[in-house]
Amino acid sequence: MEDEILRLKAEAEAALSAISQAGELEPFRVKYLGRKGEFTLIMRQLGKASAEDRPRLGKLANEIKQVLEDAFTARESELKAGQARAGAVISEDLSLPGRFTPFGKLHPVTQVMEEVCSIFEGLGFAVAEGPDVEVDFYNFEALNIPKHHPARAMHDTFYISESLLLRTHTSPMQARVMEKQEPPLRMIAPGKVYRCDSDITHTPMFHQIEGFLVDRNVSFADLKGVLSIVIAKLFAPDTAIRFRPSFFPFTEPSAEVDIACVICGGSGCRVCKQTGWLEILGAGLIDPEVFKKVGYDPEQYSGFAFGLGIERIAMLKYGITDIRLYYENDLRFLSQF
Ligand code: FA5
Repeated sequence: MEDEILRLKAEAEAALSAISQAGELEPFRVKYLGRKGEFTLIMRQLGKASAEDRPRLGKLANEIKQVLEDAFTARESELKAGQARAGAVISEDLSLPGRFTPFGKLHPVTQVMEEVCSIFEGLGFAVAEGPDVEVDFYNFEALNIPKHHPARAMHDTFYISESLLLRTHTSPMQARVMEKQEPPLRMIAPGKVYRCDSDITHTPMFHQIEGFLVDRNVSFADLKGVLSIVIAKLFAPDTAIRFRPSFFPFTEPSAEVDIACVICGGSGCRVCKQTGWLEILGAGLIDPEVFKKVGYDPEQYSGFAFGLGIERIAMLKYGITDIRLYYENDLRFLSQF
């Protein structure tokens, strides 16, 4: 019987090491280690052995069964680990397209704002920033727009109180900077401005960049020169521009600057209201009255100022036909820029 036990051990070990797939494990277990398996049968036959041999043979059979059970468990976990590795390899299919990771971008208006600022910085203009909630004095009075002046009506102002308002343009920065600094100065002031206005070319909140330069003997030719350079850099070098006489209480003479509508090429469309031109900024030579308010001598100094509408420029650059799209937070629109 001892030979029979050892023969069974050798056979089971060979069978176990020949197993190459997890599916073959269970039949092995049933055949050798199961309740009706080969080892159980041998145990049952121990009763036939002599009383003298029985304890030794019983011990041997039990030890061998235990050895086989351990070997079985080890083989089982080996095969399962191999299976998991194979699964992992399959899930790393290198021919699959990569997973999309959404990432943030600067808003198109911010992108254009930064581009315009960097062009002016390249021309030697310094940057100043001021408050969105402004006092009536800087938004109007210091800019030669006294109370009850008809020009106030053009601004569609959001008032917070009698003397506080949301600034309607970036021009208050002219007075804020000039009252603190002596000429010569070359400044730009970017920021948000607010007007009670909304259609395809107007939004209640929009962005402007104010620019102003004060020195001796500054003329309208200097203004035209600076703006022509900036517009050529922002758009194509041959972009048609026109200076149209206009009125602002804080500049004299004043002009509005239009560029040829890039949506229709100048032939007339919904965006340019069939004129072929789109207004992008207001400008002029700083009115002597403004200089007097900030303590500059208008006999010694002259200067120019302008206020650019950033959304309008972004519309022209990207061919956008409705300004309100910038503020609807539609990612399908915003992710194109
Ligand atoms: C002004 O705001 C003057 N402060 C500009 C100025 C500065 C003149 C310095 C002289 C000297 P105006 O209201 O025209 O001007 O606005 C300037 C630009 O802002 C316009 O040309 C236009 O491009 C843009 N703009 C005006 N209103 C809106 C609006 N509701 N939505 C979007 N852009 C607007």
